Amino acid sequence: MSRAKAIRYRAPYTTNSDFRKAVNNGEIAYNDIHLSQMAQEVRYGFMGKVNIAIIEACEVTPDGKIYLTAAGGIAPTVCRLADKIIVELNSAHSKNMMGMHDVYEPLDPPYRREIPIYKPSDRIGTPYIQVDPNKIVGVVETNWPDEARSFAEADPLTDKIGQNVADFLAADMKRGIIPSTFLPLQSGVGNIANAVLGALGRDNTIPAFEMYTEVIQNSVIGLIREGRVKFGSACSLTVTNDCLQSIYDDMDFFRDKLVLRPSEISNSPEVVRRMGVISINTAIETDLYGNVNSTHIGGTKMMNGIGGSGDFTRNAYISIFTCPSVAKEGKISAIVPMVSHLDHSEHSVNIIITEQGIADLRGKSPKERAQAIIENCAHPDYKQLLWDYLKLAGSKAQTPHCIQAALGMHAELAKSGDMRNVNWAEYAK
Ligand code: COA
Repeated sequence: MSRAKAIRYRAPYTTNSDFRKAVNNGEIAYNDIHLSQMAQEVRYGFMGKVNIAIIEACEVTPDGKIYLTAAGGIAPTVCRLADKIIVELNSAHSKNMMGMHDVYEPLDPPYRREIPIYKPSDRIGTPYIQVDPNKIVGVVETNWPDEARSFAEADPLTDKIGQNVADFLAADMKRGIIPSTFLPLQSGVGNIANAVLGALGRDNTIPAFEMYTEVIQNSVIGLIREGRVKFGSACSLTVTNDCLQSIYDDMDFFRDKLVLRPSEISNSPEVVRRMGVISINTAIETDLYGNVNSTHIGGTKMMNGIGGSGDFTRNAYISIFTCPSVAKEGKISAIVPMVSHLDHSEHSVNIIITEQGIADLRGKSPKERAQAIIENCAHPDYKQLLWDYLKLAGSKAQTPHCIQAALGMHAELAKSGDMRNVNWAEYAK
């Protein structure tokens, strides 16, 4: 649809590269909101009226029960609000999916009650969406697999990041901060998150754990098979098609180990805070004080979107961000003086982990955080540059910055193609 220029506006998250191109060419208006808020914003009418809901299903019954496929999204809300529903009955998804979903839509304030999920495996709704069958104006049969992305293989760098995450969690468990029964984990989207979670899951110093997360990627399915992940609650199975097929073929095994929920529930800040979820998301860049950019390259170009990373980070028991310390063969440092776009603020970010090490920001003032981040997380090529920036920024302010130099590494990247060429002396004049 992006290629056909059929989309004028879209919300929320997507990783599609054609869509990304169109957004960054100014062809599509993209409203990048927290996934947990999407259904509510649609209910409140901020995006206009829902005329037609097109819902992918693995089964639909004459009395209006729609059984979803590999994701929950905002399907219950749009089905209720839409004038008309078209069901895409997609036989690429097995009818074995029936029973996998837990469909629940909260009431709007002031009638909303707590969402009664106390552990990831709790079920609170129905396995189908009940609609008025008269609203279903068509059922279109297809056999069309998802346009699933593949994942980059784990490599020594992602293994090292995963190892650092495991070491951090094991140390917090030893200190009694994380109970020995462990806490539910959330893991973000993309190659890094997939590989890091795989490495973390294989580390036996961490007990088998449950997940309360938005996306389940390939590595989690492997870990469920190995007994390392005991249960996964998510909104979407964002797995490769062969992995999805292997789940469908082995549904007797997976049925009591997975549940899919609407994004409003899978990402509910209330549930995340109450259950003490530990969030692990990926940063594009982080600054010296722990502010994180997850969405924009160079401050202006959209990568994917915030997805659920904000829902989890702000409400997590421990919020972790991981990333390689450098990108593009070392020409870009993921640790910069000031982020070029802000998604997660220093007030919500607890831990930064790169392949270089771990910066524990809990209990630290901004100046103490800067020391920990440079010392433990920055790449050796950039350490001195970042120390020199701090010197330039001075030491008196609560959050020291030399405002004219704060985006100097980004400006240098735009100029010479390599952040390492930044010359702070130019800014000191
Ligand atoms: N500057 C410029 N480019 C950068 C960069 C930086 N600081 N850091 C990474 N990149 C580039 C990488 O080089 C790579 O480029 P390529 O596609 O040309 O190879 C690209 O960004 C993606 O990086 P990759 O290492 O493959 O990371 P990923 O697949 O793990 O994705 C995010 C990382 C941050 C883009 C992804 O996790 C995301 O979209 N997060 C936001 C949403 C979210 O966290 N949701 C989780 C809640 S469910």
